[in-house]
Amino acid sequence: MARVFSGIKPTGSVHLGNLLGALRHWVAMQDEHQAVYCVVDLHALTVPHDPDELRRATRSLAQMLVAVGIDPERSTLFVQGHLTEHTECAWVMECTSAFGELRRMTQFKDKSDGSDFVSGGLFTYPALQAADILLYDTDQVPVGEDQRQHIELARDIAVRFNGRYGDTFVVPEAVIPPAGARVMDLQYPEIKMSKSDGGEQGAILLLDDPAMIAKKFKRAVTDSETEVRFDPTSKPGVSNLLSILGAATGQSPATAAVGIERYGDLKAATAEAVISLLRPIQDRYHELAADPAETDRLLAMGADKARSIASPTLDRVRDNLGLLSR
Ligand code: AMP
Ligand code: TRP
Repeated sequence: MARVFSGIKPTGSVHLGNLLGALRHWVAMQDEHQAVYCVVDLHALTVPHDPDELRRATRSLAQMLVAVGIDPERSTLFVQGHLTEHTECAWVMECTSAFGELRRMTQFKDKSDGSDFVSGGLFTYPALQAADILLYDTDQVPVGEDQRQHIELARDIAVRFNGRYGDTFVVPEAVIPPAGARVMDLQYPEIKMSKSDGGEQGAILLLDDPAMIAKKFKRAVTDSETEVRFDPTSKPGVSNLLSILGAATGQSPATAAVGIERYGDLKAATAEAVISLLRPIQDRYHELAADPAETDRLLAMGADKARSIASPTLDRVRDNLGLLSR
């Protein structure tokens, strides 16, 4: 079975874009792959953060991943900071990547622009990400389009390392869902839904209650026409609603449009579909959140499983580099 690895940062709240664009693919991939999923808390340290909030968000994100359907028994679900192998391997990745390569990463440019404190970690972020991936002999990395460049870098590092020191790493591939998987902001349908960019009204958070979800869809921006039709270029708002309705009900956006005549009905149908999609996830989340000790037990088990893969890889890396064995 091919191995998949992916990671998500414990910053902000998980939203519908994360679910439809990433997490539900993670869930589906568990059936035919050996899946390893990681809450990347160390990556959250690259920008200023609040320690209590990080603790809360890390556990909460792990609970949300289980709630959406990641099975900690069948797959490996763990927290990056529980394994020293990641930071140790990250140093090796830094020494195998070129300064110029890291400087070309667009995420670094975007995130450092205009910040008054740019950490060294923000610059070397993709080297840690490469370590995450390569430690697990990963074949496929399911991520959004924005991560393509980082996966390319991980590939380049793997190839370079193998060339210099002998066959050590599996060269991974990015798996990026089709463009339709991008969920757009409900208020600004030309930008993607996110926890920070669009503002509170434009994003459906997975923990929003039904009244809040209904309200956000009711206020969603459409256009000055009246026709319900899937056409992302000229009708971005309406098309986004159709994409969401389709994704939530397992249909194409065009099929989802059939029989809906008015914008008000489209908004109501989409809200209802999303409320039904999220209800079982929220129920499960609240159950898990009531028992943090159980989450910690699952994460400790996940860390053990992760270590049993990462540690032999790191031994191989050390040996091939010429580091004395310990
Ligand atoms: P982020 O929230 O940026 O840390 O992203 C976590 C995962 O969700 C990544 O794989 C992203 O590509 C994906 N993602 C984030 N926002 C969206 C969106 N609006 N539509 C689809 N996928 C998204
Ligand atoms: N950088 C990714 C993001 O911002 C998160 C991430 C960290 C990741 N390590 C990873 C994704 C390894 C895939 C594989 O979304």
